[in-house]
Amino acid sequence: MSALLLTESFAERGARERARALLDPQSFRELIGPFERLASPYLAAQGVVPQSDDGTVVARGTIGGVRACVVATDGRFLGGSIGEIGGAKIAGALELARLDAQRGTPTRTVLALDTGGIRLQEANLGILAVSEICDAIVALRELMPVVAVIAGRVGVYGGLSLSTALCSEIIVSEGARVGLNGPDVVETESGIEEMDSSDRPLIWRVTGGRLRLRQGFATELVSDDVPAIRAAVERAFETPNELGALVVQAFPDPRLERDAFLRAMEIEP
Ligand code: COA
Repeated sequence: MSALLLTESFAERGARERARALLDPQSFRELIGPFERLASPYLAAQGVVPQSDDGTVVARGTIGGVRACVVATDGRFLGGSIGEIGGAKIAGALELARLDAQRGTPTRTVLALDTGGIRLQEANLGILAVSEICDAIVALRELMPVVAVIAGRVGVYGGLSLSTALCSEIIVSEGARVGLNGPDVVETESGIEEMDSSDRPLIWRVTGGRLRLRQGFATELVSDDVPAIRAAVERAFETPNELGALVVQAFPDPRLERDAFLRAMEIEP
């Protein structure tokens, strides 16, 4: 009981707080945050209230003293699903990290995902976003490890499970779930005899973090504890890469960084 009380749960935090928790203390700085009002333009017409960060947080800072970028999806907003804006934020962050690495200023990139996959309300736009994210992961992975952390309440389902599988390191918690088709979809498409989406023990038995590690779909299993997850992330980056010793760099002018980020999202600043 006392051990439980001492645990700093990662799963109970929102996306912004998860990003903050993974970055070194006081280094968190958000890019294209809620005050930029880059919300999905498609939701209101479908009777859904949009969120001004579109459920995706992109934060810069340092991890182990090295430049870093943490992308965290918000499982509390439409199941953390990915639409056009959130998808472009993720792909843009990965693309900038690749450019940084090519310029000799490596950026440790972490995808802290909690998502039901492609946003059903944005369908094809979400599919396009996932393909851009996959491309960007493959390109960055050549230069730097790309680390996925799946330790939220939703887990990772749908299109982003494909992107996750491309990451160099996949850290999962005991409470994580990872799969292509989510239980709701399997039940709808194949019937309750195939999968009862209310049977939570069954869902964890067939898609849970522990099983995924045993199956080789994850590289490390961690407890739902911020220090344990941070330590696993740091370990993941310790793998030597083609760039040799990582160069610690001061941040460039934040204004320039914001404009470069918008351009990577194909938006003129
Ligand atoms: N797009 C839009 N909304 C989604 C979503 C998606 N891809 N995935 C989940 N959500 C929404 C749910 O509709 C629900 O909304 P509500 O609170 O308004 O009812 C909310 O996120 C939470 O989902 P819920 O099913 O209540 O939570 P859960 O913890 O029981 O299960 C999942 C979460 C992700 C396992 C389940 O929602 C699921 O199986 N989703 C389908 C995943 C999938 O196959 N995606 C394929 C798309 S590529």
